[in-house]
Amino acid sequence: QTEVKIAPSILSADFARLAEEIQRVEAAGADLLHVDVMDGHYVPNLTIGPPVVAALRRVTRLPLDVHLMMTNPDAFLKDFRDAGADSISVHVEVVHHLHRTLEAIRSLGARPGVVLNPGTSLVLLEEVLPFVDFVLVMTVNPGFGGQRFIEACLPKVARLRRMIDERGLDVAIEVDGGIGRHNVRALVERGAQWIVAGSAVFGTPDPGLAVRQLRAAALG
Ligand code: DX5
Ligand code: ZN
Repeated sequence: QTEVKIAPSILSADFARLAEEIQRVEAAGADLLHVDVMDGHYVPNLTIGPPVVAALRRVTRLPLDVHLMMTNPDAFLKDFRDAGADSISVHVEVVHHLHRTLEAIRSLGARPGVVLNPGTSLVLLEEVLPFVDFVLVMTVNPGFGGQRFIEACLPKVARLRRMIDERGLDVAIEVDGGIGRHNVRALVERGAQWIVAGSAVFGTPDPGLAVRQLRAAALG
């Protein structure tokens, strides 16, 4: 998994016109659609649930990458998978039986991933790395689009890349928060592969152009 994938986050899209917004990024060659689920409890914001994921599934062929920012993700894994999630990530900070949750995601037929907040150590990944398809390194504190990138996350991505490679694993690194043309190359150079961008894509007048520019910047 060395290929760069561009994953627009619909959090910054116009929710009244989601189908059109998605068609624009899909036509521009986006690779994944990143869906931010927030429960108003784990993070101080409330977004969408399985019915919206099901509606997205009907209007796009892109894989749906569902990022669960919620305190009890276990209770909703099947709902999100049934709604059409292709990959599902859970925060290591909230899940009590992480291995069990990751296996549950895989047994539902989705790709399991774990998410680390900026203040969470890579040490927490040690035992679960062999059981995930990807690790999502948050580069802002979760909860909102349009926040400023936290620079300290750059060396963290490089350290994670080494951890994965030393173990000979095939685990992708996803990065999320404050990413745009100005910093995407630095992340890719350190080993990031799935690039989430919300405001840098949907906060611009031409989201399709933004996807193409982001990919060009990512590839240097
Ligand atoms: C933040 C979400 C992100 C958000 C990123 O909690 O996980 O996916 O949409 O938005 P930008 O790219 O604007 O920082
Ligand atoms: Zn996200």
